[in-house]
Amino acid sequence: MSNNLVTVIYLFSGALFILSLGGLSQQETARRGNLFGLVGMGLALGAAVLSGQVTGLAALGVAAVPAVAIGGVLAARVEMTSMPQLVAVLHSFVGAAAVFVGLASYLHPHAGLSGAERLVHDVEIYVGVGVGAVTFTGSIVAFLKLQGTLSGAPLLLPGRHALNLALLAVTVWLGARFVGAGSVDEGQQWLVAATAVTGGLGVHLVMAIGGADMPVVVSMLNSYSGWAAAAAGFMLGNDLLIITGALVGSSGAILSHIMCKGMNRSLANVILGGFGTPAKGAAAAVTGTHQELAVAEATTTLRGAQSVVIVPGYGMAVAHAQHTLSEIVKLLRERGATVRFAIHPVAGRLPGHMNVLLAEAKVPYDIVKEMDEINEDLERTDVVLVIGANDIVNPSAIDDPHSAIAGMPVLEVWKAKKVIVMKRSMGSGYAGVDNPLFVKPNAWMLFGDAKKVADQVLTGLRS
Ligand code: TAP
Repeated sequence: MSNNLVTVIYLFSGALFILSLGGLSQQETARRGNLFGLVGMGLALGAAVLSGQVTGLAALGVAAVPAVAIGGVLAARVEMTSMPQLVAVLHSFVGAAAVFVGLASYLHPHAGLSGAERLVHDVEIYVGVGVGAVTFTGSIVAFLKLQGTLSGAPLLLPGRHALNLALLAVTVWLGARFVGAGSVDEGQQWLVAATAVTGGLGVHLVMAIGGADMPVVVSMLNSYSGWAAAAAGFMLGNDLLIITGALVGSSGAILSHIMCKGMNRSLANVILGGFGTPAKGAAAAVTGTHQELAVAEATTTLRGAQSVVIVPGYGMAVAHAQHTLSEIVKLLRERGATVRFAIHPVAGRLPGHMNVLLAEAKVPYDIVKEMDEINEDLERTDVVLVIGANDIVNPSAIDDPHSAIAGMPVLEVWKAKKVIVMKRSMGSGYAGVDNPLFVKPNAWMLFGDAKKVADQVLTGLRS
């Protein structure tokens, strides 16, 4: 295949990736976006193989066929709630790939490069290996924390910022030695040392981040993995890898920014702040007693409401209650009530978690509202049904400056006329913070597994 044709296919694939990202940004077009991505990647792989850039097709087959099979089975089987772990592992592969590509490009004789060209190539290798190593070890630690193998609590070593700066300074120093190395053997030693140091930096950076910030970290590592891929593209002289890496790098950075905005934090605060750090002063204790409600009363309340807002959270996802909920919504709307969903940007355990589940349960897109779109309407709402959510409806984020989630914007459901909270106990959510919503005078607890209770409510509404 001629080089020109390969370039045209690469450009076409790049355009498909952009269309894919555009499509994925809205539920209505997400399937199409996914398809664009698949076609783009298929074309890119085909062109790379047919162009002759890939030698050793047998070795590629031996590696790729089982990898595709294992990846396909794992992705098909993974629970929605374990998706962040899967994503973290996939990022670690990109990081490891960038390290290996860097090491291999260096060991490959510098095909005729000298002077400035050689310097640029060495810098590309060094940056690619460094970013790749941070991504690799950081993603592995993120995976272990999300999986619960490592504690989610932040590891806050004394002088940790100084340690990070020192590791960074050593990385720069090793870089200077690497590009100035007199022989490939010497350069290789500096490169391996830099891989170890940047790998250590990745471990320390992510160890210092608490559980509640892991989603931001995963999306940040997503961004790093994009830049690592782009660096690999420069090393290999592959335009498509550069384009794709830049797309992943920038979209990951934008997603991190959006999530930080959702939690009212800055990215620097997430990375350097050590969320989960005990707040100065004690959080206010939750006093008062809660009120309980039986399923029959909840059904009657919902039946009599003109306006209902449903706030789904992590508990709805683990209970798989979305399909029943969709049926409940259908019935209420048929009876003439206005029913909408209120989605917090960090509800559940991954970005867009609730939107995906509701789309799967065929809830109409136009009644699914983002927090900013609906928060002001809550005070004019008859009933808010909170189903398996906790932190995202916790008033202490606003009222208690000592709370671990102080400053995080939340859905102000307590402003509605009546709030029904469907969950199994008075237990706390992901951030481990008590929730004063449960003892508000207009809030009633409806205890039980979200799916079972929703089924009972549905039966009640139908009868
Ligand atoms: P959480 O605050 O974690 O609360 C979920 C609640 O669901 C729990 O309090 C639990 O109470 C209840 N629950 C669990 N299983 C249930 C079941 N089978 N039936 C009924 N209820 C059940 O969830 P949230 O309100 O969605 O907030 C998300 C939290 O996760 C935030 O702190 C956020 O920062 C964090 N986080 C978010 C992400 C992203 S990107 N979305 C990723 C990681 C972490 P009971 O045990 O009493 O039932």
